[in-house]
Amino acid sequence: KEFETLLTEQRGAVMLITLNRPQALNALNSTVMRELSEALRTCDADDGVGSIVLAGSEKAFAAGADIKEMQPVTFVDAYLGDFLGGWEAIAATRKPIVAAVSGYALGGGCELAMICDFIIASETAKFGQPEITLGIIPGMGGSQRLTRAVGKAKAMDMVLTGRMMDAAEAERAGLVARIVPPERLLDEALEAAGKIASYSRAAVMMAKEAVGRSDELTLAEGLRYERRLFHSLFATEDQKEGMAAFVEKRKAQFRNR
Ligand code: HXC
Repeated sequence: KEFETLLTEQRGAVMLITLNRPQALNALNSTVMRELSEALRTCDADDGVGSIVLAGSEKAFAAGADIKEMQPVTFVDAYLGDFLGGWEAIAATRKPIVAAVSGYALGGGCELAMICDFIIASETAKFGQPEITLGIIPGMGGSQRLTRAVGKAKAMDMVLTGRMMDAAEAERAGLVARIVPPERLLDEALEAAGKIASYSRAAVMMAKEAVGRSDELTLAEGLRYERRLFHSLFATEDQKEGMAAFVEKRKAQFRNR
């Protein structure tokens, strides 16, 4: 399927989705939101897709929500149209998404990277929530997901001053899972996603669900939730296969059963 603002390419069981508005440093306008939402829904529905890599360009993962599109918006437009509400549908994607971040991930771009399940960053990556410089605040989770990722001190610093973090600081702070040289970024992300896609689909999706819930549940509830999911995986053929393969010293052949 052809999109105006995205490129999609299936590599084995991994869907590579690349934001493609180079003239605006991949600024996230309503077309990007609609198309990305559709592309991710298609991935969730497609048995041939096990995981997703979301990438931008070398210069910018995404430089934020589209400021030119936002400029004339009024409160009533924003409220009645649930402006940015569509990003929650993107966060509801059930298959794992690895963000491959090179260059700027600012405002909505940083927030989109945080909606993904983990971030692999190029040494050139720069993260920031510069909304305050525009007279607004983060609107796609920056005040919530960033705070959970890096803690209150750094989140307040970033959201109140609008300063950027480089890749090294972002990794130290826990925002980024791995840093790689720029030329390795896409391969590293595709390899990670390929590995994920090679495992039992149900186990992978439950793992994502369980870790995702850790932000929302108390420890006691989270542990119980995890244990219920854990128990349920013993109903899968893939559990039998995974453990038989270990015992027989061979590679597991998961069949998503
Ligand atoms: C619309 C944008 C844009 C954006 C860049 N462009 N960011 N257009 N929305 N967020 C456009 C520029 O207008 C310019 O177009 C082209 O992309 C290249 O950008 P330059 O500024 O010329 O590049 P450079 O000098 O290299 O500076 C890069 C930059 C800067 C530091 C990333 O572009 C920048 O500060 N961008 C805005 C970052 C920002 O404030 N993001 C937060 C947005 S608010 P023309 O046509 O002039 O060549 C936000 C709200 C979140 O995200 C709420 C939830 C979504």
